[in-house]
Amino acid sequence: MSAPLILGLESSCDDSAAALLRGREVLASVVKGQADLHAGFGGVVPEIAARAHAERLDLCVEEALAEAGVTLRNVDAIAVTSGPGLIGGVLSGVMLAKGLATGLGVPLVGVNHLAGHALTPRLTDDLAYPYLMLLVSGGHCQFLIVRGADDFTRLGGTIDDAPGEAFDKTARLLGLPQPGGPSVETTAREGDDKRFRFPRPLLDRPGCDLSFSGLKTALLRQRDQLIAEQGGLRRQDVADLCAGFQAAVRDVLALKARRAIAAYLEEAPAEPALAVAGGVAANQTLRDALQTVCSETGLRFTAPPLSLCTDNAAMIAYAGGALLASGVTHDMTLSARPRWPL
Ligand code: KG4
Ligand code: ZN
Repeated sequence: MSAPLILGLESSCDDSAAALLRGREVLASVVKGQADLHAGFGGVVPEIAARAHAERLDLCVEEALAEAGVTLRNVDAIAVTSGPGLIGGVLSGVMLAKGLATGLGVPLVGVNHLAGHALTPRLTDDLAYPYLMLLVSGGHCQFLIVRGADDFTRLGGTIDDAPGEAFDKTARLLGLPQPGGPSVETTAREGDDKRFRFPRPLLDRPGCDLSFSGLKTALLRQRDQLIAEQGGLRRQDVADLCAGFQAAVRDVLALKARRAIAAYLEEAPAEPALAVAGGVAANQTLRDALQTVCSETGLRFTAPPLSLCTDNAAMIAYAGGALLASGVTHDMTLSARPRWPL
């Protein structure tokens, strides 16, 4: 018997997405971003996001069905992000999922968005449990030991901003385009990462917690000082500031990764591995640093392809399928949870 065909829905932040998955085969994955809608506001506007999800999720489902060459009648189960995230968007997804599950008479599974990210590496890699996960995106930053589809241990995480958010703010402060991560990374290639001093926050605090808001303050101070001294920023100044900021993020994440690895290795995992996911996992400087840490500590380093690293519904369908296989389903009382730590 072939694996069930699972329709996944994602709408917890600013991407509306639908995907169709059978086993580990992604038959279709449609993502409709909303960057254009929020561009003028300096961040995601919850009301605008909710309305856009309500309008676009249906379209995502239609496109995914057409791409996979199947109809709704072929779908065996519906998996939906039921939190954490912006409540209006999560509600749009949960309501659509309930309607579809009822109409089709198939099981409904609510999925934690973070679990979706954390399980994604297993979609493309034969990764054995338990593995260590660094989830690093615009909204999240945490180290997890992943023991199973519904079994996670959080070792630590950011106490303020997420790194992607810090990249985006840095870009905004330096007049670079959004999303900030790619533009800061590109600009940093021309820069000297030692010219400006950036703090390495929380290094003296034991454990795996991180902080990134101080980096933004440091950047603002250095930028304003340059403007006061020179009357403006030169191209090289911007490159040097980007390089210094990026090096600080890299160093903090690499050092805390070493601590997380030490805690993880205490459990003597059979096939020790570190997986990274989330939009910031696209950063090559960070990847190189994590790769080095893994080589030195005997871990395999793995990262899903970028299209699965950023927000998508294939990860929700995959996590939903894993939950379904372990007997988890939800009924019509499934609620949208704005907060839902793993
Ligand atoms: O996972 P994601 O698509 O969305 C969520 O945050 O849920 O991550 C987007 C974040 C943005 O903040 C973006 O600036 C950052 O990932 N990002 C990067 C890079 N590419 C994307 N940050 C650093 N370096 C990159 N190359
Ligand atoms: Zn996400």
